[in-house]
Amino acid sequence: MEQYAIKGGNPLVGEVEIGGAKNAALAILAASIMTDETVLIENVPDVRDTNVMLQAIENIGGQVERIDRHTVRISGRTIKDMVIEDDFIKKIRASYYFLGALLGKYKRAQVTLPGGCNIGLRPIDQHIKGFRALGAEIRIEHGLVIAETQRLRGGHIYMDVVSVGATIDVMIAAVMAEGQTIIENAAKEPHVVDVANFLNSMGAVIKGAGTDVIRIKGVPKLHGTEYAIIPDQIEAGTFMFAAAVTKGDVTVKNVIPKHLESISAKLTEIGCEVEESDDAVRVVAAKPLTHTHVKTLPYPGFPTDMQPQITVALGLSRGTSIVTESIFENRFKYVDELTRMGANIKVEGGNTAIIDGVSRYTGASISAPDLRAGAALVIAGLSAEGTTVIDDIRFIERGYEDFHLKLRSLGAQIEKVNSERELQKFRLKTG
Ligand code: EPZ
Repeated sequence: MEQYAIKGGNPLVGEVEIGGAKNAALAILAASIMTDETVLIENVPDVRDTNVMLQAIENIGGQVERIDRHTVRISGRTIKDMVIEDDFIKKIRASYYFLGALLGKYKRAQVTLPGGCNIGLRPIDQHIKGFRALGAEIRIEHGLVIAETQRLRGGHIYMDVVSVGATIDVMIAAVMAEGQTIIENAAKEPHVVDVANFLNSMGAVIKGAGTDVIRIKGVPKLHGTEYAIIPDQIEAGTFMFAAAVTKGDVTVKNVIPKHLESISAKLTEIGCEVEESDDAVRVVAAKPLTHTHVKTLPYPGFPTDMQPQITVALGLSRGTSIVTESIFENRFKYVDELTRMGANIKVEGGNTAIIDGVSRYTGASISAPDLRAGAALVIAGLSAEGTTVIDDIRFIERGYEDFHLKLRSLGAQIEKVNSERELQKFRLKTG
């Protein structure tokens, strides 16, 4: 089983290139099958979840050609099967985007009930409500969500919760429904806008993405396109917090600073210097970190996907901080692991962490409970005294490309090890 071995203590210094946004890519890859023409997508991150999506497209008869590591050509012309059900796709949440894509194009879809990171109850009732408003019949049988209809018609949908997945999924299907669809209380995340831009580049007519109300005028057909995915806001934010926690000086390059504002604001509040330029953000952590309070919220609020990373930083900040998780109810599971490294954090009521800053973490053997928490624990390890060994790094590899290599290029001592022997070698090498 692969693990990360980390010897903490080196400040991260230098520049790091941020890849394409995983959560935009997952939706864009699914939606790319909605035309019979060829679609070329650039800046696709080479991570486990995107590769599972591409495999799923091949499994239903679509053609996938990798031009290079981050560019893929997809053709949905040869799709013959509307059932998405392999063992890998079951584990990823974004499988639900095939419901929207297949239902929109073929008016029928059967997709395994989505899995994903175990961060709490993750219902899909808003997706179903949206598809029903477009005239689809939906039932759940044998672990599959089955959606079908003769005709998909535009509808008016008021989302009961702000949901990234439901907003994108219903938008994808509505693009090929007859007439106008209005989605109210829509999610406004940058990747919602990116998916809308991608669909518009295929001939869809979507207005208002990035606001609370999205209006879609259905079209009978979509055409081929060439499209580059936006940079990953969360990968960038993770490196920005890695700079803060290791008292480093890191410039994240190839980013859209506007998408990082809530993250930059919190870093400034806790005592870092943040400098923005056109497509880069530099974080310098020269002073001791100080406490703050933070509540996760839909965009433009502080992202839930950055909650473990800021908690790790606040764990080392002077004073008492409070972190409130308002999106998912089970996203503090990693706190037990952080406690093993010396953090002083109490979780109350499942969604509030009260953090008393400590002066240092100490290395320990721990497990990554999910993707973002896993990345946050790596950051904790980078700042810790001694060696940290992290299990279950497959979670981290779902969403971070070459995480350990990028960290190493900034001066981190981190290696992927596959056996006790390799771990011993790492320990000997790093002293
Ligand atoms: C997306 O998940 C991301 N996943 C998550 O990223 C991210 O944490 C989340 O959005 C919030 O930003 C992908 O894009 C694949 P939601 P999603 O629907 O779409 C409730 C990561 O680390 N809800 O916005 O599943 C839900 O329970 C992952 O990259 C319903 O009640 O999130 C939650 O409380 C983890 N009914 C809230 O809405 C529904 O039908 C927001 O969820 C749908 C959601």
